[in-house]
Amino acid sequence: MSKVLIVYHTFTGKTKKMAETLAEGVQSVQVTEVKIVKAAEAQPDDFAGADAVAFGAPNTFGGMAGALRDFFDRAWPVHEKTAGKPAVAFTSENPGETGALQEIKKFFPFYGLKSVGEGISTHGDLGENELKQCRELGRLLGQASKKR
Ligand SMILES: Cc1cc2nc3c(=O)[nH]c(=O)nc-3n(C[C@H](O)[C@H](O)[C@H](O)COP(=O)(O)O)c2cc1C
Repeated sequence: MSKVLIVYHTFTGKTKKMAETLAEGVQSVQVTEVKIVKAAEAQPDDFAGADAVAFGAPNTFGGMAGALRDFFDRAWPVHEKTAGKPAVAFTSENPGETGALQEIKKFFPFYGLKSVGEGISTHGDLGENELKQCRELGRLLGQASKKR
């Protein structure tokens, strides 16, 4: 029995679609609860209470969109309760661009999070291949959440 939290930001919907598809993968391993929440509305206590977490944001100016960065800033008071949680990162960027995924993952050690896989960076429109990757990463995160 476990809880998985997915925190994301989006401007035009691609990162939201990735979050929803990750959630499908998590649910395929029958965890009790998957909560998907926009970064601006996410509460640090949700993070503290989750068994596993996923963080997603579009690339802005070569890094993660500020709304997700703001959540990492706001969640610091609970960082002693987040150590050891399995975590994944995902992002939507323009074709040929990088930077957001690395920036999201840069926050993992500060919160003691354990990376599950490399994360997913998509570029442009989401095709079936990208959605399949999201589902698979969600499945791995769901499995990891059950081992906590
Ligand atoms: C203010 C702003 C800055 C952006 N800067 C970048 C950038 O530096 N590199 C990049 O690859 N994409 C950049 N983008 C494009 C978005 O990352 C891209 O359109 C993404 O697919 C949007 O994801 P979403 O549909 O989840 O909002 C920027 C978008 C906005 C609104």
